[in-house]
Amino acid sequence: MIQANEKRLIDSFGRVHTSLRLSVTDRCNIRCFYCMPHENVRFLPRPEILTFEELARLTELFARLGIDKVRLTGGEPLVRRELPRLVEKLRAISAIREITMTTNGMLLGDQAQALRDAGLDRINISLDTLDRLQFEEITRRDGLAAALEGIAAAREAGFEDLRINAVAVKGLIESQVVPLARFALENDLTLRFIEFMPLNAAGQWSDTDVLSGNHIRELLTTEFGELVPLPRDDVSQPATDYTHSGGRGRVGFINPVSEPFCSDCNRLRLTAEGKMRNCLFSHEEWDLRGPLRDGADEAELTRIIFESVSQKKQAHGIGTTGFEKPQRAMYQIGG
Ligand code: 5AD
Ligand code: SF4
Repeated sequence: MIQANEKRLIDSFGRVHTSLRLSVTDRCNIRCFYCMPHENVRFLPRPEILTFEELARLTELFARLGIDKVRLTGGEPLVRRELPRLVEKLRAISAIREITMTTNGMLLGDQAQALRDAGLDRINISLDTLDRLQFEEITRRDGLAAALEGIAAAREAGFEDLRINAVAVKGLIESQVVPLARFALENDLTLRFIEFMPLNAAGQWSDTDVLSGNHIRELLTTEFGELVPLPRDDVSQPATDYTHSGGRGRVGFINPVSEPFCSDCNRLRLTAEGKMRNCLFSHEEWDLRGPLRDGADEAELTRIIFESVSQKKQAHGIGTTGFEKPQRAMYQIGG
């Protein structure tokens, strides 16, 4: 008989996997340059995308193997129609403790309440700038007002602990560091800066394009005074958080490039078309959709999942010689 602990998703470096990122679509209503090509984006044909039933079935299987946290991503998850119906299905899986979502926020105005009612626990909103023209420059769409309305709608719907993610690109968001921090402070949000990673579709990336967490910290310290570290309650959580302004402001740094956190990684990913990935930067993926649609039983699907976990590499290797960025861009993987 298999012991319960042998069924956990432990890789060859002893990392236990408890978190699953589900990409529900590769489509998006905007075109952030660090994620998507400008134009002529080739999206997956509809039949290739996992149905809600398939997503729930696979999540149930992952939950039996120790996954207890699910994050919905995209593309932009809210362009997938009837997303609250998926949240309800995932909520019915008792081993899943937490369901969260990463969104650009623009469609939250319409959907926040239904998502809350369906049982979504928490939302991260991607927002890099508070300047309308710069928003358009980054995303190639005029969407700042909708994103801000979305944040307000999420709050009104009862979501707490709202978090803003800003991608830290050098030469671009320095001027936004303080305004974003002030906006977060005034609206009781946690702000996190994520170092720009080589996952953009255009393929240009150099470490000199990354605005490091340390640099941002200096900009914030100059404005708000000393940043005080907050205790980290979950070691697998990649952000290092600080408070400022007498404990009212909260700002954190996710530094995958300057301070890789691979050794604590507990995350697995499923792309919108049902390919399992053991890392954002992996070059290999394991198809679950094909076997699922061909009627594979639980044992077979479990075998594929274990195989993927067992092949997980120790670290992403950004900055090392021989590093090659993955074939897929961010929108095709899921953030
Ligand atoms: N580097 C860092 N973060 C990125 N995101 C998208 N592309 C990149 C990139 N190349 C972020 C989005 C969002 C999350 C899904 O990932 O802004 O917050
Ligand atoms: Fe869309 Fe998110 Fe990619 Fe921006 S980062 S284009 S919001 S999927």
